[in-house]
Amino acid sequence: MEFNLFLIIPIVFATGIAIGITSGIFLAKKTSSGKKECVAIGASTVSGRGAFALKKVRDGDIIERCPALEVTDQDIGGELLNYVFYGSTETARLVVMGNGMLFNHSSTPNVAYYREETGLGPELVLYALRNIKKGEELFYSYGDQWWSTRQ
Ligand SMILES: C[S@@+](CC[C@H](N)C(=O)[O-])C[C@H]1O[C@@H](n2cnc3c(N)ncnc32)[C@H](O)[C@@H]1O
Repeated sequence: MEFNLFLIIPIVFATGIAIGITSGIFLAKKTSSGKKECVAIGASTVSGRGAFALKKVRDGDIIERCPALEVTDQDIGGELLNYVFYGSTETARLVVMGNGMLFNHSSTPNVAYYREETGLGPELVLYALRNIKKGEELFYSYGDQWWSTRQ
């Protein structure tokens, strides 16, 4: 009986550790909503940092739902101006969290977005405009107004 306990306790202990490590690795690749993350930030092919597909994405798939905060243009200045979106009124600006703020611009984008109101506030929903390969850089269009108001 004693012999069995000496054998069983280390086996149970080792199994627990193995399960813990495996679930840790598995959960680390998932977002808080339980979905596998699609986007990683890396060195852009056009400027500074950019967003890249961590896995193959299909046309129409949602890439990320980004919680957002609507503020007034008075709250935004300096370099931050280059990172915010237009808001629901002329003077409103949308501060987008998650990876959503770091996508670079392309006039032939592979990503687009729409705003959605949720019980917890606005969200910017980024989705694929075509099939995207794992590792491709992700771009949305900043629009003509964005570039015409900057040098
Ligand atoms: C929202 S940030 C994008 C992330 C930025 N690349 C970074 O490293 O933080 C917007 C800035 O990225 C740069 N940018 C975005 N798209 C670009 C492009 N297609 N060509 C050159 N610069 C670009 C511009 O400097 C712009 O002000």
